[in-house]
Amino acid sequence: MSTDVTREFAFGLPKAELHLHLEGTLEPDLKLALARKNGVDIGQATVEEVQATYRFNDLTSFLAVYYPAMDVLQDEDDFYALAAAYFRRARANGVVRAECFFDPQAHTSRGIEIDTVIRGYHRAVVEARETGLSADLILCFLRDMSAESALETLQSALPYKHMFIGVGLDSDERDNPPTKFARVFELAREAGLHVTMHCDIDQVGSINNIRAALTELGAQRLDHGTNIVEDPSLVAYARDHGIGLTSCPLSNSFVTKEMKGKEIIELTAAGVKVSINSDDPAYFGGYVGDNYLALAQRFDLGRADLERIARNSIDIAWIPDEQKKAMHARIDSFVAQH
Ligand code: HPA
Ligand code: ZN
Repeated sequence: MSTDVTREFAFGLPKAELHLHLEGTLEPDLKLALARKNGVDIGQATVEEVQATYRFNDLTSFLAVYYPAMDVLQDEDDFYALAAAYFRRARANGVVRAECFFDPQAHTSRGIEIDTVIRGYHRAVVEARETGLSADLILCFLRDMSAESALETLQSALPYKHMFIGVGLDSDERDNPPTKFARVFELAREAGLHVTMHCDIDQVGSINNIRAALTELGAQRLDHGTNIVEDPSLVAYARDHGIGLTSCPLSNSFVTKEMKGKEIIELTAAGVKVSINSDDPAYFGGYVGDNYLALAQRFDLGRADLERIARNSIDIAWIPDEQKKAMHARIDSFVAQH
């Protein structure tokens, strides 16, 4: 392997993380501690036992482990603790900007108030900002629940609109195309919220869902979305409209056995703004620095390649231009020192 990328470079390079599920940062030790605190029987008593349940080979089997784990999150302090732990790790991975997904319906459906969820996460966001990490929240709708439930969720979240900047769409894509949620995304856009959505890897109808997300639903970014390579006209559309892709190599290799590095390289060369992210780092074996490093090692990418990916992540972040300029300047000085 001849890559000049060291661990120090991959982790230290200033970057934005734009595809990160806060619920996917629930590490086994915090899960056990919260289970004990809240008297929730999760069926395991050690970190190793919890880790042993993290077995999946596709999106559906992953989600079957992922959602039940959330039972340990009960009060505002629990949501705060989860997000605060992520922000500590993000800083150690060179993250200067974090736009974090959360799934309110995964909690309201088990009797937790949306107020509890948003206030807990937001408290950690405010604290992260005080330490110099630019951070915001993105509310995701669960696509395997109904469009009506998504609408109710948006309505119940709008009183907290100052606490999140956009909406997304996640969970199981099979039989749940983005067009199912056309109305809720239209209302979100009218409310001034940014719009992104998951177009997961190698789904039945991936390319049709990508086309609808871009041309009918007003998606500004695609989460995963690398199946766009199947249609050169959509690749050109993404390039021309500055549509960002938030790719997650380690996550991809869990749910499909491939990092999709070939697609990431092809799309970057075509001028599409592809970023690298960690998705659900507690489940997929690493945080964002690990993702940069793994991709570089597996596909023999150099420092200049990772620099380009990090600059893409800043360019497609939902922040004002002055903030982007300042973050690019941080990349300039990091690269000059390395
Ligand atoms: N895809 C769909 N749903 C998810 C994901 C994902 O990558 N991560 C957490 N929920
Ligand atoms: Zn995701």
